[in-house]
Amino acid sequence: MKVKTFNDLFVDMIKDLYSAETQLTKALPKMAKKATTPELRKGFEQHLQETIQQRERLERVAEILEVSPKGKKCAAMEGLVEEAEEMISEFKEPQVLDAALIAAAQKVEHYEIASYGTVITFAKMLENSEEIVNLLKETIQEEKDTDAKLTEVAEGIVNEKAAHVSA
Ligand SMILES: [Fe+2]
Repeated sequence: MKVKTFNDLFVDMIKDLYSAETQLTKALPKMAKKATTPELRKGFEQHLQETIQQRERLERVAEILEVSPKGKKCAAMEGLVEEAEEMISEFKEPQVLDAALIAAAQKVEHYEIASYGTVITFAKMLENSEEIVNLLKETIQEEKDTDAKLTEVAEGIVNEKAAHVSA
């Protein structure tokens, strides 16, 4: 049996993130389409563009590591996307749906922030990893900004309206 090294673990986590971002590039257009608050729709559309770039950054990371970014399926993202889809089908009232979409999107962002945080810490321990660390840091900043924007939209618009929808 091949001994799995720390480096193998790092590669595994990069592949996992690559799968997560790939799944997100498919889920975000659906979420944007369902969002009724214009700021939220725009936010999802903007984050789709960022997610496409984040995926490309992981391709670059894999290239530096001389591995393929493919080959893993991120089960966590699969579950989070599934939950988002469930919400979309369950909550039909537009403002409530927006609130549900934000809740689902923030779970996704927090998952990503946690995962990128870990791989950045790992990457710093590898040799000649400066470019990798910088690429991953660019992405984690975008995820944090997206999370903050979602909170802003939620607090500013969606939750207020959602609370006023009577049963
Ligand atoms: Fe992402």
